[in-house]
Amino acid sequence: MVQASGPRVTVKSDPPLFGPRFNSELQQLFRWRRDVRRFRCDPVPEEALMELLEAAHTAPSVGNSQPWRIIRVADLANREAVASHVDRCNADAAHKYEGAEQEEYRKLKLHGLREAPVQLAFYCDRAPDAGRGLGRQTMAQTLEWSVVMAIHSLWLAARARGLGLGWVSILDPATLDKLFEVPSDWGLVGYICLGYPMEAEDQPELEKLKWQQRLPLSDILFQK
Ligand SMILES: Cc1cc2nc3c(=O)[nH]c(=O)nc-3n(C[C@H](O)[C@H](O)[C@H](O)COP(=O)(O)O)c2cc1C
Repeated sequence: MVQASGPRVTVKSDPPLFGPRFNSELQQLFRWRRDVRRFRCDPVPEEALMELLEAAHTAPSVGNSQPWRIIRVADLANREAVASHVDRCNADAAHKYEGAEQEEYRKLKLHGLREAPVQLAFYCDRAPDAGRGLGRQTMAQTLEWSVVMAIHSLWLAARARGLGLGWVSILDPATLDKLFEVPSDWGLVGYICLGYPMEAEDQPELEKLKWQQRLPLSDILFQK
């Protein structure tokens, strides 16, 4: 609330109470967030996209550096260039496997680049003015990690609105840097597809196809 005249005084609103019902729904959101590779072609309303980008932009970042730089890839020629580049990288990746495993790999659908209505290249500005270097003197990677946080915020916000996100990493960042003519301080973190998913899933596709199961919590939790 802002006073009409005199010094501007901002009164903080009460913090929201995230009760048990919200927490149970949040848990469901985690469980139903999926990496999506099959998209419907319906467009994403502009307002919804802007809300999602605002959500990404609330992410935590080292020193509050906000190093995410987002390129919205709308140009059809650029999209096709990315899709065919990823197809080439994917074909190369298949050769790293042999025999039945190679067959299994080739059957996986690992991107929805020709269907996803929205495509975003998330870059990290490795020399941002914001944050004045705080927190990253000994761990420069924290800038990239901050961008991952922004992508994850977008991922959850998208799912909460019935939208799906697919992260594509089978690519050579240098090819995209050249295509988008990015400044030399920018490094690619993720190429993101966004749109309405063909179907909702509570199980990762790589689990369903028996490529990789979720590890038990006890395998990844250590005590010292
Ligand atoms: C950094 C990162 C890169 C990924 N790259 C790809 C990719 O190139 N292609 C793909 O199909 N999935 C990719 N994924 C999605 C993972 O395969 C997926 O998150 C994992 O199988 C678990 O499934 P879920 O996200 O549906 O829970 C990526 C995920 C992350 C976090």
